Amino acid sequence: MGKIISLSNQKGGSGKTTISVNLAVLWSNSGYKVAIIDADNQKSLTYWYKARENYYGSEDTGIYNEQYDSSNLYEQTRELKKKYDFVIIDSPPSITIESINIARSSNYIFIPVQPSPVDLLATLPFLNLVNKEKKKSTIILNRVLPRAKLTEAMKLRLRYAGANIARNKISSKIIFAETFNVGRGVIDISVNSRVSKEIINLGNEIIRKLE
Ligand SMILES: Nc1ncnc2c1ncn2[C@@H]1O[C@H](COP(=O)(O)OP(=O)(O)O)[C@@H](O)[C@H]1O
Ligand SMILES: [Mg+2]
Repeated sequence: MGKIISLSNQKGGSGKTTISVNLAVLWSNSGYKVAIIDADNQKSLTYWYKARENYYGSEDTGIYNEQYDSSNLYEQTRELKKKYDFVIIDSPPSITIESINIARSSNYIFIPVQPSPVDLLATLPFLNLVNKEKKKSTIILNRVLPRAKLTEAMKLRLRYAGANIARNKISSKIIFAETFNVGRGVIDISVNSRVSKEIINLGNEIIRKLE
C-alpha cells in the first residue's frame, strides 16, 4: 500500500511546491511509482508538470499528474494508494476546510518553513490545526541561509510549540527556481551536487518516517 503525503502550510512561499516537485523527481528516479496532486488554485505544480512534459515528452515525465478531486479527496486518495508508492499533495496556502480535508486524507504532513520570525509566526496556527487533527507532522526548514544563529533560535521556538523538525534541511539555492521553470528537479541535473544530496537525505528521512 502506498503513502499519501502532503506539503502544507498556510504561509505562501514557504516551499510547498518546490519540495513537492523535488521529492517527486527523487522518488521517481529511484524507481518508485509517484503521483502528484495540485490542490492549490495558483496551479504552480500544474505549470511545472506542463513544462516537464515539454522538456521530456508527455510519456517520459516519470511522474503521474492526478487531478485534484476536492469533493471526494478521501476516497480518491484511498484508491490512489493502491496504484502508487507515493502520492504527493501540494496544498493551498490557507487554513480552510480544503486544507483540513487534505490533512485528513494524508498519512503524514510535511510543513516547509523558512527560518524567519515572520514565517514562524504564520506557521503556528497551521501547527495547531495539525495537532488538533492528531496527524503525524514534521517541519522541513527550507531556504536556510548559512546564518546558523537564527535557524537555531527558530528550532528552539518550534520545538517549544511541540513541533517535530526534520533533521535534514534545505538550503537557499537559486537552482531550485531555475530547475522549476523548466519542469525539472535538482536531481535531474546531477545526483552529486550538494543541493541534490540535501534532497536525497530529506527524501530518505521521510521514507524512514513513513515506515
Ligand atoms: N530552497 C530554496 N532556495 C531558493 N529558492 C527557493 C527555495 N525553495 C523555494 N524557493 C523559491 O521560493 C518561491 C516560493 O516557493 P514555492 O515552492 O512556490 O512556495 P509555496 O508553494 O509554499 O508557495 C519560489 O520562487 C521558489 O523558487
Ligand atoms: Mg505552491
